[in-house]
Amino acid sequence: MVGSWDASLETGIEKIDRQHRQLFEIIKQLDELKDEPKSDVVMRRMLDKLMDFTIAHFSLEEDLMTEVNYPPDPTKAMVDEHHDFKTYLQLRSAELREAGTFEIGSFLRFLEKFLKTHEFGLDRQLADWILQQNKISRAA
Ligand SMILES: [Fe+2]
Ligand SMILES: [Fe+2]
Repeated sequence: MVGSWDASLETGIEKIDRQHRQLFEIIKQLDELKDEPKSDVVMRRMLDKLMDFTIAHFSLEEDLMTEVNYPPDPTKAMVDEHHDFKTYLQLRSAELREAGTFEIGSFLRFLEKFLKTHEFGLDRQLADWILQQNKISRAA
């Protein structure tokens, strides 16, 4: 059983946090499916859902970085991690399509570890920066 989203992952930016909670919800649904027999069609559908949602979520954060003029270095770090994660999902999706199956346990552990590290790290850094800028503009 993968761990679930918890309040310690909150960044303080509601539109990011809402999507992070939804991402963990999708992972939880995948986790619940893993022991079901003949679930590879359902699994494929869930993976597509995860992929679509992830792409939408990364776009939201990347648009937000542009909107707030986030500095180039952390922007690049964020875009690079998003890119690596999308590539990983694409590879595992292709594996499932070709072989009809893959080892779901390691996949879920990777998803959970990546998302928690990313949310605690680069996403939190972006949120802190935005909140700090808002404070500065309010004080000015
Ligand atoms: Fe991100
Ligand atoms: Fe995120």
